[in-house]
Amino acid sequence: MDRLPEQLRELLDQADLLPGPERRELALLMRGWADAQSEAEPAPEGGFPGQFGMIGQSPAMEQVFALLARVLHTDVPVLVTGETGTGKELIASALHKHGPRRKGPLVAVNCAAIPATLLEAELFGHVKGSFTGAHKDRQGYAEAADGGTLFLDEIGEMPMEMQAKLLRFLQEGEVRPVGGNSVKHVDVRVVAATNRALEQQIKAGAFREDLYYRLAVLTLSLPALRERPEDIEPLAKFLLHRNETEGLPTAKLSEEAIEALRGSPWPGNIRQLQNELTRAAAFARDGRIEVADLELVSAS
Ligand SMILES: Nc1ncnc2c1ncn2[C@@H]1O[C@H](COP(=O)(O)OP(=O)(O)OP(=O)(O)O)[C@@H](O)[C@H]1O
Ligand SMILES: [Mg+2]
Repeated sequence: MDRLPEQLRELLDQADLLPGPERRELALLMRGWADAQSEAEPAPEGGFPGQFGMIGQSPAMEQVFALLARVLHTDVPVLVTGETGTGKELIASALHKHGPRRKGPLVAVNCAAIPATLLEAELFGHVKGSFTGAHKDRQGYAEAADGGTLFLDEIGEMPMEMQAKLLRFLQEGEVRPVGGNSVKHVDVRVVAATNRALEQQIKAGAFREDLYYRLAVLTLSLPALRERPEDIEPLAKFLLHRNETEGLPTAKLSEEAIEALRGSPWPGNIRQLQNELTRAAAFARDGRIEVADLELVSAS
């Protein structure tokens, strides 16, 4: 790190001697290299292996961290995919917290939790009197995220009609409140997440292909927990440690218990591991979780 300015100067001197395309290539290389220097993220607190506050040391997670580091400093829309409980929301918040928009707001919208009839007004706001109950002008989530990140969770649940409106917003960067005539320009980075196979939904006519390509400029696919057994032990220890700091029951895992956790299929992934550990810790005797205290292991 200390030699960074010196090395950059050397590279720049060389760049001056190069013809057009090579020069651009070198500039790109330099940028990537400088980014890599500044993005070398410290491991999560407590000595757990991982990056960006996320635990993981498996090749699959290393790949996720490398992709994350590459897109962190850009405004490229990212689609996060993965089974339930694999950490999609955590990725969205890492993209925000570790990127240049960190001082701006992170606004999360759960597209599955908002009734279709309300979604447009929730996202883009409404003006007073535009529908029953609209007693005053109200800002939407997209505008609230101005200067920051808009996280569209469960995007696969978004109704088709709303998808068209979202596409227009992404293309124009403009918010049109329900019932209003004015438009407002907003600057947001969009991160979307889904546990559905959007390609299949496109084929079935339930998801717009053009919207998909807008959202999935980069797709970050989170591996299921069973595909990264080497992450299970550090994750389990981290989750028990986190429980302790939050005043929840905690306990130490026996070697056999760790082995059993590693052999379990975890259809609910890390969230399921978390629930299982919290439950087991509450029943553990002498502060120790044994195989007999685990419930889900036999499911494998
Ligand atoms: N790599 C990780 N390191 C530490 N904790 C993690 C990691 N991945 C997930 N978790 C934890 O697991 C839980 C589930 O993560 P999250 O809510 O991000 O998953 P999700 O993919 O959004 O799930 P869903 O599809 O059900 O919404 C959270 O408590 C989160 O903190
Ligand atoms: Mg989620």
